[in-house]
This record gives sequence, C-alpha cells and structure tokens, in this order.
Amino acid sequence: MLKTENIHKNYGELHVLKGIDLMIKQAEVVSIVGASGAGKSTLLHILGTLDKPDEGSVWLHDTDISKLKGDKLAKYRNEHMGFVFQFHNLLPEFTAQENVMIPGLIGKKNEKELLKKSKEMFELLGISDRLTHKPAELSGGEQQRVAVARALINDPAIVFADEPSGNLDSKNAQELHQLFFKLRDELKQTFVIVTHNPELADMADRKLTIVDGRVL
Ligand SMILES: Nc1ncnc2c1ncn2[C@@H]1O[C@H](COP(=O)(O)OP(=O)(O)OP(=O)(O)O)[C@@H](O)[C@H]1O
Ligand SMILES: [Mg+2]
Repeated sequence: MLKTENIHKNYGELHVLKGIDLMIKQAEVVSIVGASGAGKSTLLHILGTLDKPDEGSVWLHDTDISKLKGDKLAKYRNEHMGFVFQFHNLLPEFTAQENVMIPGLIGKKNEKELLKKSKEMFELLGISDRLTHKPAELSGGEQQRVAVARALINDPAIVFADEPSGNLDSKNAQELHQLFFKLRDELKQTFVIVTHNPELADMADRKLTIVDGRVL
C-alpha cells in the first residue's frame, strides 16, 4: 500500500537517510526504532509528505506522493493521511469534538456527518464523556486519544505517529498502544509508529530499525 524506493535525505554534510526501501501493507502496524538522531522522524516526515526526499520516491497506492506540491499535496494529505505527534497539538480554544472535526471541515465534509462521526470515534476510543471538554481540561492520555480521533476523522489510508506515547506515564502509554491495535483489528487501520518505547515497538506487526541511514 505504501512503498518507498531508495529514499535519501541530506542536511548539509549530514547524510541522514541512505537509501530506504520499504513496503507497508494495509492493516499493518509498523514500528520504527533507532538511536536518537538516526533519522526516524526525518523518515516519518518524508513518508507523510511533510518533508521531501533528496532522492527516491514514496508511493501510496498508485500515487507518487513525493512529487505532489502545493494545494494538491495539502488536499491529498488531508484526505489520505492522519498524524499523531508526541505533543497533542490540539487547539486550546476549541472543544475536543471540534478539534476532531477540524480536518473534516478543512476537507469540506458535511458538518452534521462530522458531528455524528466524531461522536462515534469518541465512543470507540472510550472518551465519549469528554466531547465538550477543552484540551486543558483533559488528562494527557485523553488528549492523545482525541489526537488519535482527529487523525482518523477522514478515514485515512495510513496514520503516522511520532513518539505518540513519549509524553505519557506507563499506564496511559499502554492504553494508547492497545488502542492502535484495536483500531487495526476493528477498522483495518494502518499505522507507522516511531517510538522509543520497546514494548510498543515489539508489539507491532513489524519492527524496522534504522542504523546508519538504512533499515536493518
Ligand atoms: N531541519 C534540519 N536541519 C538540519 N539537520 C536536521 C534537520 N532535521 C533533522 N536534522 C538532523 O538529522 C538527524 C536525524 O534527525 P531526526 O529528527 O530524524 O532523528 P530521530 O531519529 O527522530 O531522533 P529522536 O529519536 O531524537 O527524535 C539528526 O542528526 C538531526 O540533527
Ligand atoms: Mg524524532
């Protein structure tokens, strides 16, 4: 479903990625691990079209997404990709439900449908009593669940997560990790997750280790 060919990335003299070839299947949870500075976030950003490779290409289904630009790229990303980062990046002045609906509103989806869909997502994620809370009124674990709901609102082909549990205590981290697998099982959702958490990395269907700019 997602495929890369010979991805290279340099920052000045620093050759961070030295030819990455990957294939990720639907409903697969793939973890990416490696030392700090190994290039995990760089790779994730390239896979998610947030950054461009210097060489090589990234294919999602039949589209070479590394060649998309401007409005076309923004639209494609909004429709087909979801993101979860270490810090939830929820907008503080909006309620949890509004935050989840925003990518759908950007995608010009029907508001009534988004209200219904977001409510269903909150139920699925076990936070249905938190719809009208503002981000500051939520626990760290709840904030991350809302961020996951936001990532899923447009039914993305793939969700990219960069240290999603990096800011959570071990109990909340475990619950979030279990959620990823529940979503894989129930929604056939595909995830690529960068993590320093060995438990999560090992739970994944496949673990990719980056060493010296390559996948081991
Ligand atoms: N925009 C940039 N400009 C210059 N150098 C960068 C840039 N982004 C990343 N780097 C460098 O590229 C290397 C890889 O960075 P990256 O963020 O991908 O590492 P990482 O594996 O995600 O590390 P961590 O586990 O600490 O998050 C690092 O040496 C970093 O300093
Ligand atoms: Mg990183």
